[in-house]
Order: sequence, then structure tokens, then C-alpha cells
Amino acid sequence: MSSTQDQIALEEALKKQESLATEISALRARVASGAEDGSASKKQKTSEIRFSTLLKSIKPSGTVMVFSKVKQMQAEGQKVVSLCVGEPDFPPPKETLAATKAAVDEGHYRYTTTAGTMALREAICKDLQRRKGVSYTTDEVMVSVGAKQAVVCAVLALCGPGDQLMTFAPYYVSYTEIARLAGASAVIVDSTPESGFIVTAEDFAKALKENPRTNMLILCNPSNPTGAMMPKQLLQQYAEVLQRPENQHVMVVVDDIYEALEYDTPHATMAALEGMKQRCITVNGFSKSYGMTGYRLGYLAGDAQIVKACSKLQGQINTCASAISQHAAVQALATPDSWMQDMIATMRGKRDFIVDSLRAMPGVKVCVVPQGAFYVMPDISAHYGKKAPDGTVITGSTAFCLHLLGAYSTALVPGVAFGFDAGVRVAYAQGMETLKEAMERMAKCLAALE
Ligand SMILES: Cc1ncc(COP(=O)(O)O)c(C=O)c1O
Repeated sequence: MSSTQDQIALEEALKKQESLATEISALRARVASGAEDGSASKKQKTSEIRFSTLLKSIKPSGTVMVFSKVKQMQAEGQKVVSLCVGEPDFPPPKETLAATKAAVDEGHYRYTTTAGTMALREAICKDLQRRKGVSYTTDEVMVSVGAKQAVVCAVLALCGPGDQLMTFAPYYVSYTEIARLAGASAVIVDSTPESGFIVTAEDFAKALKENPRTNMLILCNPSNPTGAMMPKQLLQQYAEVLQRPENQHVMVVVDDIYEALEYDTPHATMAALEGMKQRCITVNGFSKSYGMTGYRLGYLAGDAQIVKACSKLQGQINTCASAISQHAAVQALATPDSWMQDMIATMRGKRDFIVDSLRAMPGVKVCVVPQGAFYVMPDISAHYGKKAPDGTVITGSTAFCLHLLGAYSTALVPGVAFGFDAGVRVAYAQGMETLKEAMERMAKCLAALE
């Protein structure tokens, strides 16, 4: 099966599971209450809703779908071991939690200016200067409702029908769909595990030539889903391609959301390279580095005109980010570096455990040892075509993940959701007990295939 077919199969299988669960709950409710059958008329109503063409053009997020399924299984009392979600298991720094409570006590619960509070934008500018060596003014920063919304604003501000948005596979699941939201099309440039999941500057230049309507590149560094890090030297080579006269119009969204979680290769940001600040819209946030996923807080930094355009969009979509979260985030940025160093040390231990465990499983290849973030994308394709004891044929990453979830209550995300069907994504920001259990179950599952 092709990647697209597998993606469709995954969506359909999950939808079927979901609708079966809904049916079971409805039947349970009817049995319990002895109520008359009202489902036929309810179904009638649902089918009358006319959803927009835009909605129909986008796919649901593969990771969110698997995560929802896990939540549902857990709600039904099943013990699911989940390495499917990109969420750190550590809490925010305690001073940040205290600042969150203080925000309420001190009355920071009203709308803020659309671009974000001055205090937070100043703190972001200081942080980017100190850690990344790139200097921004507050009118070059917009605070958003999570980093994802910052990406959406940048894409909506600059891309539209007829435009092409380029990204490198394996890619973050939302990029292609955000392109579609803008009416643009996505151009995927493939990479291989053998090349370290890195697209060479030559391949990048070739892809730009072949897709002349490309006006935006989205880079995720370090990568979700592979953990690969694009080193400074490679970013410099990309910058050289982007600075050629024929590519001057291409803007770059640099999704640095995982940059604080770096292991052996230091992270570099493209905006800090000579001549690149005006070409980059740097996206970052608080979800991954400070364990603040539920605060829904991110930001973008770039040319003041682009930031103004993004604020115009934000003003019509959600007015501003949460005032309470913004107040807490000022404190988060004041967290001593030692806190992050401790976090990285813990995460490195988890990475090493996961990589060693995967490498010990026959037929599993880990070509890229993650250099950042908390994901790894092992190649399990040596097992494709095999049969499980229950008769399931492992046709690809979707079939494998569904089988692992159904028979071993263990959740990973199929690589096909990220444009790499040979692999599965393992998110290892979980407690050691969970990691051990998940690896044991995965090893058992693979060993039972024939
Ligand atoms: C690459 C990437 N960008 C953006 C986001 C969104 O982050 P936030 O929670 O800040 O919206 C995620 C979350 O998983 C991500 O993996």
C-alpha cells in the first residue's frame, strides 16, 4: 500500500472504532433507560449538516486521532501504555506554577493587547538575544495561543491558492493541513534514515527549481517526528540556496518549538545567520521546553510587517492569548539554565534507554539517534508482510500500530502520518516504568509475528 492509502486506511479504521464505541455507548444507555430508539432520527439530523469544502479538504491529525483513541480506551478502564503523544511528563518549574496562581490573585485575567503583553514580549526578546544571539524588538514579536497557532497565522498571512508550501519528510503532521487551510498546496521533499533524515542543500535547491510556486519553507529543528537536528553548517547551506536571486521570495517558517531540548549537536536558529533574520519567521513556545502544554502559549518573531499581519489575523480569530498564561510565561523565561540542564539530562537517559531497547529488537533499525526533542522514528519495515497470531497482516505502519494498540494496549503513531510509512514514532517523554512496559510489549508483539 502507498503512504496515502495507509493514511486513509488508518483514518477509516479509527473512525470505525470510534463509531462502534459511540454505538455501544448509545446501546448501553438505551438498555439502561429502556428508552425508545431515537438513533434513527439523530442520524438523520447529522447527515443533514453540510460541512464546508475547506473542512472536507483537510485530514484530522494522526497523532490527535491515536491520542483520542487512547483516552477513550483508558476511560473504558483499559490500561493503555501510551508513547503516542508529544507531551513532556515533567511539570512546569515551581516558580512558574506560583506565578500562575499569582496571576489570578493579582487580577491578570482580562484581555491583553492582541500581540501579547509588553512584559512577555520584552522577556521573549531578551531570551532570544541571550540564548540564540538574534536581536528582536517587541514589535517583531507576537504571542499566540500555542506554537501551532503561530504557524497557522504565518501561513495564512503569506500563502494562498496557487502557492506551494514546502516541507521536509518525515514532517510534523499539521504542516500539510495548515497549507491546505490556506488554500495552498504542500510540497514534500523526502529524506531517508540512511541520510540521517536530513535533506541535502542540493536536494532542497532542486526541489525549489521543480516547484517554482513555492513561497514558503517550513523547517522543524530539531524534528518532530525523528529527533534529527539540522546543524548550523547545514542551515548555512540552506541559507545560501535561499539567497540565490531566483529564491529571494521564499520565506522560512522556522519551527524551533523543541530547540531547548538538545543533546549532543547544539541547536542553531536560521534567523541568527547573516542576512536571514528578515527571511525567517521563528516560531517557538512554552509547551515542550517548560512542560506547559495546557497553558496554550507560543509566539512568533519576524519582520514587523509580518508580525502586524499575523496580529491582524489573531485579532479576528482569538483576540489574544490567555493573560494568565502570559503572566506565568514571563516567570518561565526567568528559569535558571540549570533547570533545563537537569531536564535534558533526564531526557537523555530516556532516549538512550529507548534507542538501546529498540536496537535489541530483531528487524528494528534505529538509523538516527535523536539529537533533540523527545521522539525517535525506528524503521520496522522488515516486519511488513508478516502475520500476527490473530491473523492480522502487518501491511504497513498503520496496520502495525492498530495491532499493537488492539492486542497489546500500547500506543505509538504510524510513520505514515508523518510521510514515512517504514517507521513508527515513539514519544519517550514518559516515566521510566511506562517506557519499560511499552518496550516489553512492543518486543513481544514483534516476536509473535511470523
Ligand atoms: C513541531 C511542532 N510544532 C508545533 C507544535 C504545537 O505546539 P503548541 O502546543 O505550542 O501549540 C507541536 C506540538 O506537538 C510540534 O510538535
